[in-house]
Formats: sequence, C-alpha cells, structure tokens
Amino acid sequence: MKEMWDNRYAENEYAYGTEPNLFFKESLKKYNIEGKILFPAEGEGRNAVYAAKKGLESFAFDISIEGKNKALKLAKKENVGLNYEIGDFFNLNLLNEKFDAAALIFAHFPPTIIKKYHTKIAELIKPNGFIILEGFSTNHLELQKENPNAGGPKSIDFLFSIDMIKKDFPNFKIILLEEKEVVLDEGEYHKAKSKVIRFIGRKIS
Ligand SMILES: C[S@@+](CC[C@H](N)C(=O)[O-])C[C@H]1O[C@@H](n2cnc3c(N)ncnc32)[C@H](O)[C@@H]1O
Repeated sequence: MKEMWDNRYAENEYAYGTEPNLFFKESLKKYNIEGKILFPAEGEGRNAVYAAKKGLESFAFDISIEGKNKALKLAKKENVGLNYEIGDFFNLNLLNEKFDAAALIFAHFPPTIIKKYHTKIAELIKPNGFIILEGFSTNHLELQKENPNAGGPKSIDFLFSIDMIKKDFPNFKIILLEEKEVVLDEGEYHKAKSKVIRFIGRKIS
C-alpha cells in the first residue's frame, strides 16, 4: 500500500493537481471554518496548503513520505506553514491537539482500520467543530466498470456509504449527507464521472 502511494507521488506531476478539492473549498467558505484543521491521508497537500493560505492552521498526516515531500514543496511555493506527519495515526504528535475541523478528502483507509480511525478523528474535534468528507461511494464501482480510468479504490470495502457515515460519526449533527454523481477534474487520477459520498457534520458534544 505505502509503496503504491510512494510510487505514484514520486512522479513529477501532482497526482490530483495542486488546486483544492472543490467540495472542500466551497465548504470551508460556506461554513466559515477557522482555526486548526486536520487532514487525514492528505497525500501531496493540495487541501492543507489551500487552508493554510486562507489563514487556518493545517495539520496533515499520511503514510507516504513522497506525498509529504510534495506537500512541503507546495507549501514552500505558496509561502505557508504546514504540520505534516508520516506513520500510524495512533503514534502521531497531532493526537495532542484538538481541531476546529477535519477534512477527509478521498481518505480511503483499509477496512481493518477505518472505523477506528473515524472514531479517533471524531474524538479530536472540538464541540461544534466540523467534519468535511468527500469520498468514492460503493456505487462508484459500476462507473469504474464502464470507465476503467475512473479513479478510486477497486475494492468495495474501501468505499463509503451513507449508512457507514451515520454509524461512524454518531455524535455529529448531519448538516449534509448525500450520494452524488459528479465529474471529477483533479489532476491525472481523478478525471471522470464518479459517484461520491459528501458529508458535513457538526459535533454535538
Ligand atoms: C486518493 S489519495 C487522497 C489524497 C488527498 N487527500 C487528496 O485529496 O489529494 C489517498 C491517500 O490515502 C493515503 N493513505 C492510505 N492508507 C493510509 C493510512 N493507513 N494512513 C494514512 N494515510 C493513508 C495514501 O497515501 C494517499 O495519500
């Protein structure tokens, strides 16, 4: 898994571009999110750098050192700071922080750890804080069959459903939770008609 991501990010181009994910960008503005923001599985840093440019304090983590290197390069180019750690989530320094928001943008974790990761991410959010999530839905697999170039995991147990999100984030008020067909245009690897789950949750307590 780590090797696959390191190989992808070792390429010169940014795999998903250097512009932020559109849903993330719009949500940040719409809900007026400020303060400290967590980016699980942030890869090459396009979202974390954007948030830092908007004045937020960005904390990111991932398993790919090549992803981190590209993210720090982008942060330097944009003249912003970025906290970025590599490794197992449960061993990171950022667990000592509390966040005003977390942005899970295509943060597809292996099925053995996803529930544990979601629960811990939820714990790290301050009361009234936000979760912004966009990821491929289980129904995205049909579109992958039609178009083998459509991005995303090929295995259903890496994908999201509305039911799963409700179960994983029970102490969040649902502001938005939907499955949507969108045409992604993010770098070389997210460039096709796709089915995504979108979630905006606000922590109740
Ligand atoms: C589709 S990319 C998304 C990257 C970024 N969020 C974005 O939207 O540009 C998925 C990311 O998940 C990371 N990843 C996979 N398993 C992980 C794990 N167990 N812990 C942390 N990151 C992981 C990969 O290294 C990769 O960067």
